Amino acid sequence: MSDTPLLTRRPEWTALEDHRAQWRAHLRELFAADPGRAERYVVTVGDLRIDYSKHLITDETLALLQELATATDVFGLRDAMFRGERINLTEDRAVLHTALRAPRDAVIEVDGENVVPQVHAVLDKMSAFADRVRSGEWTGHTGKRIRTVVNIGIGGSDLGPAMAYETLRPYTARDLAFRFVSNVDGADLHEATRDLDPAETLFIVASKTFTTIETITNATSARTWLLAGLGGEEKAVAKHFVALSTNAGKVTEFGIDPENMFEFWDWVGGRYSYDSAIGLSLMIAIGPERFREMLDGFRIVDEHFKSAPAESNAPLLLGLLGIWYGDFFDAQSHAVLPYSHYLSKFTAYLQQLDMESNGKSVDREGRPVEWQTGPVVWGTPGTNGQHAYYQLIHQGTKLIPADLIGFARPVDELDDRLKAQHDLLMANLFAQGQALAFGRTAEEVRAEGVPEEQVPHRTFRGNHPTTTVLAPELTPSVLGQLIALYEHKVFVQGAVWNIDSFDQWGVELGKVLAKRVEPALTEGTEVPGLDPSTAALVAAYRVLRKV
Ligand code: F6P
Repeated sequence: MSDTPLLTRRPEWTALEDHRAQWRAHLRELFAADPGRAERYVVTVGDLRIDYSKHLITDETLALLQELATATDVFGLRDAMFRGERINLTEDRAVLHTALRAPRDAVIEVDGENVVPQVHAVLDKMSAFADRVRSGEWTGHTGKRIRTVVNIGIGGSDLGPAMAYETLRPYTARDLAFRFVSNVDGADLHEATRDLDPAETLFIVASKTFTTIETITNATSARTWLLAGLGGEEKAVAKHFVALSTNAGKVTEFGIDPENMFEFWDWVGGRYSYDSAIGLSLMIAIGPERFREMLDGFRIVDEHFKSAPAESNAPLLLGLLGIWYGDFFDAQSHAVLPYSHYLSKFTAYLQQLDMESNGKSVDREGRPVEWQTGPVVWGTPGTNGQHAYYQLIHQGTKLIPADLIGFARPVDELDDRLKAQHDLLMANLFAQGQALAFGRTAEEVRAEGVPEEQVPHRTFRGNHPTTTVLAPELTPSVLGQLIALYEHKVFVQGAVWNIDSFDQWGVELGKVLAKRVEPALTEGTEVPGLDPSTAALVAAYRVLRKV
């Protein structure tokens, strides 16, 4: 048994509890007492200007949080991660997504072997392939050029490339179409392929393990669809299927030529993998050069996280702020609200990154935690959210810290009329941050002549914390910077909470049970040990399905 003290027994923790117990200040008062916080509580990393002045903090809060980070040795674990130590304890693996964006001449060893040359060899292979598809040199079985790329994967093998494709649409080859199939619901593959010509379609089967049932089932159906459309010639598969995986054996077993496999490694977690071979669809979309710009963006934040002092280390600050609210203010969730249509899948991506990483209830030594771990992460693009759920953030009973993310310039591709809408978009972002923080007092409402009985309804308490992330433009590099920022923020929180942020045993049970129940649905076989509720549901399902 380890001697790591339980988090809640640490003096740094109890100091924060005391600080919280005495906390009374409203953001209005904090700004009135210290207008300089607007300048002081800003950290700049690469292109990201991160304003954390609208948080329920003082210099003392920050000092206490940093003492907690020191006591829990966040930077020690960070260094162990960057060194390639096996910090994923339950899977006995290194955690080296940072090696995926290391420069060619870097040396990062796993078991005595420098992994950087392998990373670049795969990137080069991906680049050559992406160029061939983009130029039309890579043709399908009948000699036609590829017009649509369909990525089949789930979880980290889907969310990353799908999100990044959406985000970087203005940078994509507009003469190619991209679709992402993840759901084992046959409707997903149906909708993705119903209007496609198999002769012009390339399937990318993305699966780290190559055993994930949803992906293998969809890939098998896609192969059937392809062969049916191309006269049943098995050798067509080689021109229309490539694989992204760590499992060459399973890829070959599936019938994909290992020549058409792009490799990655067990030290890349699924939810940290879209800058590995898993990003092939994205690389075909935006081209190798833009993809490398994105990797450079990741690297800017990696370097910052590695070397910036605690007071100005952005992932550390954001991670600690989340802990402040989750553990000391009982905040249950965290909203991520991008003011960019192109970031429509950003929060869904972060849900896996954060919730699969930090949705844990035992510590690294296997002891039950007595503190809150990862929050529920949610949100959609800001202006749409304003007309849906912001009401609850403003006037509901829950404390919901939020990230507001916006860009100074609209993308180049928009015409002048649409570009002019950008100021209105950003005005909304700034207005929301202001309203959430400062609200509107009853006196202010009365002063506007509002009838007394309506005053309580039209009063905004305010005091809702937000971080505002502002960048000049949504470029590939900026996307890389944003993702690395959140990756390391999640890391910081896991380190303080002393949980293993890199396993995901919680998704296993459902997988095992689904496999066990499936024959009962298809064959009507008895499932030993099925609980009465589920057994009744299965029986009802079979009747409704008229089997
Ligand atoms: O949801 C569990 C999980 O293992 C994720 O971590 C992973 O991203 C996803 O399944 C897909 O796994 P694979 O890439 O092996 O198909």
